[in-house]
Formats: sequence, C-alpha cells, structure tokens
Amino acid sequence: MDLSQVLGGLPPNTDPRVLADYRGASDAGVYLLDGPDGRDALVQSVDFFTPIVDDPYIYGAAAAANSLSDLYAMGATPITALAIVGFPKKGLDFAILAEMLRGGHDKLHEAGAVLLGGHTVQDDEIKLGYAVTGRVGREDLVTNREARKGDRLYLTKPIGTGVLATALKKKKLGEDANLALHRNLVSLNRAASEAMLAVGIASATDVTGFGLLGHAAEMARGSNVALEVEALAVPILPDALRLQAKGYVTGGLRTNRRYVDDVLHIEGVLDRNLVDLLLDPQTSGGLLIAVAEAKESRFRQALTERQAAAARIGRVVGQGSAKIVLR
Ligand code: CO
Repeated sequence: MDLSQVLGGLPPNTDPRVLADYRGASDAGVYLLDGPDGRDALVQSVDFFTPIVDDPYIYGAAAAANSLSDLYAMGATPITALAIVGFPKKGLDFAILAEMLRGGHDKLHEAGAVLLGGHTVQDDEIKLGYAVTGRVGREDLVTNREARKGDRLYLTKPIGTGVLATALKKKKLGEDANLALHRNLVSLNRAASEAMLAVGIASATDVTGFGLLGHAAEMARGSNVALEVEALAVPILPDALRLQAKGYVTGGLRTNRRYVDDVLHIEGVLDRNLVDLLLDPQTSGGLLIAVAEAKESRFRQALTERQAAAARIGRVVGQGSAKIVLR
C-alpha cells in the first residue's frame, strides 16, 4: 500500500539534507550524508507482504529482491537491510520461518548487502519484508521525474506476477508458469541498475503495486511528459494473459484503473484483458527506464555486457502535460 497520501498530512521536512521523502512519489527516501552540499546520499525503502508462492525460500528471496528494487530504481547500491517478520505462534513449523529468512539472506548477499537485524511479531498471517538502505552519489541519483521528450522506454522484467500468484492460490497455475513466476520474483534489478549508472541515465522507476501503467503514470506526472506505450511490445509471463482473461485478478486491479484514469488514453482497438494486465499489481517487478536516444545503443550494450535483458516498450512523445498513450 502506498502511504504517501496518509503521510502527506504530516508537516513537511524542512531539513535541506532531505532530497526525497513521503511527499513525493519517488521509489525511496533520499538523504544527503554530509550536509546540504554533500556528495553522497543514503537511499531507504521498506516493504513487506504475505506469501505469494508456496516455497518459503523463494518467498524470502522475493521479499528481499522486491525491497532492493526501489534502491536499484534510484541508482543506489544496497548496503544494509533489516528484516520485518510476522509469524504465527502456533500451528506452523519454525523450519518454514528459517527457510524464508535463508532465502532473504541469500538474496541480500547476492546484492552485496548485509542483514543487520530485524524484528518479529506474532501474527496469524505470515508476513515478511525488508527495510533496506543503499548509497548513491548525488550526481548518479536516478528519479522518476526526469524523463524527457525523445527518450526510449525500456522494461527489464515481464509482467503478470499478480495474476499468476492469484491463480496459484486457486491451484490453477501450471508447473512451467510457476517456475517462471519464481524466476521473475527473485531476479534482482541489479544488472539493469548498473547498466543505467554506466551510461548515466536520469530517469527510472520500478514496477510494483500500481502495475506497469500506474508506475508509468507516476513517471509521466513526475516528469510532466506524455508517454507512448506499445501494448504488444510489453513482455508478459507465460499464461498470464490467459489467466487474466479467466478472471484470476487481484483486488488491486480496480484501484489501479482509477489511479491512471486521468492520464490514460487508449488508441485504436486493444484487447481489454491485455490492458488490464498492464495494470496488474506486480511484486518484485522490473525497472521502467527512460533512455535518451543518444544513449540508447550504449545502454543496450551495457545490458548485454551484464547479461541483462530489457524490452523496448515505448517512448516519450511529448512534454508539458502528463499523459500515457497506449496503443
Ligand atoms: Co518503487
């Protein structure tokens, strides 16, 4: 859930070291370490959620990858993490909890971050997440407010995790799709983030609860630009469109439709289910990256060097008002 509307009622930060906080729609908070003229900043984010897969190790790894994703979206290098755990007092084997935490630990290790501690509460429903901290040079900071006309839009992971996780809960997910879901959830956005830094890219965000179009809308509003997204160019997880059409959708879909209502324009005839899939709430989704035309080939090369994949899904077509043209 996005707390910015609730937190927005709090008095604003007046500390000049705060570069981003709860009042904006940025992926994480940003704080300058050595005063208002400092060169280095801390980047912090937190997220947690109930199990979305059956395998506790994969769930833990997904929880870590998901939290780290906000840091990667801003060009930050993860350094530390704290675990947030809800676990029932009775009825469940503590070996499950150990597996969850092992998955999270291994993923943090892969990211080069260390787990410093955490907090556990008794909870009828399992929950797991991480508060994560990263570091970024002020000059390298990436935000969702810097997309410019002419930029190409890239997406680094296929979408459909919400639909697949819903089908899994109803025992309607096939083995292949389940494995694809696992792979997608646990893959880090690290290589894509490093490719952004190598090329000097100014604007990106990660695709999570608001879905691809919701986070694209945040980029459009934050940058005050018009984005053109080609629906058929968006990579999709196996079976996601079929399961979407069968109605395996999360409760977040409706909220996300409303969230983009003021900016979304559909051009031509598009499959209704495909449009909805582009609003499917994602967990541990990919980065949506706006790449200046002049940097595009270098960016693609930087991705290839890191064995990272990204699909070109559209471009920034206008400046001066927030809009998404879906075609
Ligand atoms: Co984010």
